[in-house]
Order: sequence, then structure tokens, then C-alpha cells
Amino acid sequence: MEPRKDLLDIASLTLEEIEFVLKTAGPFKELFTKSIKKVPPLRGKTVLTLFYEPSTRTRSSFEIAAKRVSADVTNFAVSSSSVVKGESILDTIDTLQAMKCDYVVVRHGAAGVPNMIAKHTKASVLNAGDGFHAHPTQALLDAFTLRETFGSLTGKKILIVGDILHSRVARSVGRICEKLGMQVGVLGPGSLIPKSRPSFMRMFHSFEDALDWKPDTVYLLRVQLERQKDQFFPSLNEYHNVYGLTDERFRRLESEGTWVMHPGPVNRGVELGDAVMNYERTLINQQVENGIAVRMAALYWLKPQTT
Ligand code: CP
Repeated sequence: MEPRKDLLDIASLTLEEIEFVLKTAGPFKELFTKSIKKVPPLRGKTVLTLFYEPSTRTRSSFEIAAKRVSADVTNFAVSSSSVVKGESILDTIDTLQAMKCDYVVVRHGAAGVPNMIAKHTKASVLNAGDGFHAHPTQALLDAFTLRETFGSLTGKKILIVGDILHSRVARSVGRICEKLGMQVGVLGPGSLIPKSRPSFMRMFHSFEDALDWKPDTVYLLRVQLERQKDQFFPSLNEYHNVYGLTDERFRRLESEGTWVMHPGPVNRGVELGDAVMNYERTLINQQVENGIAVRMAALYWLKPQTT
């Protein structure tokens, strides 16, 4: 497979490229059971993580992944950098470019920032989430997890529940599932479902109607209160009752053997409750583990112009 310079979204990836990353991630995951989990392909390369928004999973997963392919990793702490003195993103990138980084992992609150940085630097840029736009490695790790669970995904059904409007995860996960042959349903408050959603997203108006569709997996999105400028639903309690996995809905999922996914971080008592976290068909921890293997594969695949 020809390498790309950057990984910016799912929409621009071909099916072959997606399959290549998923296939490459498999042997990387097998390393996790070995006493030495490190392989040499990025020896001598430098990975810089540049997070303008908070992150637990993505940032630490990229750091572990980069170290496991033997890269050196520098975490750029935006809050204690000259960014707080007003330095622009491009000036920051120019400064970092002078340090000859090979890969830049960037998360930013504004859509399009990773694309802008990619045009401005010879380093490979990996989008770790930009505004409402895209979160490609989340989608790749979710696809890997679904493949691990179901084998072939053709015809399988995924129901994505929650704040579709503000969710880069919903856009990227929906897109990759469609590319891999899945049926994609969406459910959420009317105010949080985009009017211009892609035609492959089948919309449901109640959780019960959506469960009658018999999804193989229910993918709960985090309620992103920090991105909502207006009040889109009356209260978190109300959200849980209408769009959350209540005890009653959870019992139905359990009896039907439906799998549950969530990108994290979880708002307990809002999207789901404690019982769901302990459910044997909850894939949340596998998603986190698989994130490392998939990010190793992405780093392995990309080729900076610096080399
Ligand atoms: N899933 C995800 O992007 O989590 P973080 O915000 O913790 O990175």
C-alpha cells in the first residue's frame, strides 16, 4: 500500500487504505501479550503531540503507540507554551518544524486546523480530533474493534445515539462503518441531529423504535456540554430518560445480546449507568486497547516528506 503523508479524516481514505491500516494493526496488537512490546520501524523518528483541547485516551494512546514503534515522543504542553502569550498556530508549527519533527499529532477545537498544519509542514500530520469535523483514529480503532467482534461487517447494524451535531466521532465512525458495509442508524434529540446528514444515516425518533431495528451494536456518544452554546435538551436527567441506556433498555440489550460501545469519556448516569460498564458485551476497554495498535499502524503507514 502506497503511504500517505497525512491522516486527516475518514472520508478521503479509500477502502483499501482502511483495510491496510486494520490489517496492519492486527500483528501490532499481538505484541501486547509479549514481554517486549516494542518494534523498530520508527527508530530515529520524532513524534510531537500537540493538543489544544483536553484528552486522556487519544493523547496517551498516541504516546504509547509511538513509543512501541520506537519513535521518540515530545508532548507539547499548550497551556504552558508560548501559545498562551499569543503565538499563532502557524508560528508554533514553524518553530517546531525547525526542530525537524517527523510526525505531528494534533487536536484542536476548530475544524480544519490539522489540514492547515499539514499544508504548512513536511511532517506527517495525524488528526487527533478537530472541532465537529473528524476523529479518524477513533473511527479506525472502532472499526478494528467491530471486526474483532463480528468478523465480516457486511450487513451488520450500528446505532449511534446522542449528539450527532457536535460529534466528530459520529461523523467519522458513521463514515467508516458505511465504507465497511454496515447499516448505520442515528438517534438523538431533534436539535442535535444535523439537517444535512449523509443519506446513509437512517434516523430514528425513539430508542424503542431504534431497538426494534435490531442493531448489533449500540454506540453511545458522550454528551459534549462544552461544545453546546445553546440548551439543546431540558436537563441531563431528561436526556438519560429519553436517549440514555436506562435500566429497562439495558435489560433489553442484555436479553438480545447487543454490544455496547462508547468513545469515552463516559458521563455516568447520562449516556449509561454503572451496570453497562460491567456488562460482558461492553467493548469500551477493548476500544481503548485497540487504539494503541491502530495508531501504531497509522504511524507505520504514513510517510513524512522529511525522509
Ligand atoms: N475518545 C476520545 O477522543 O477520548 P479523549 O478525549 O480522552 O482523547
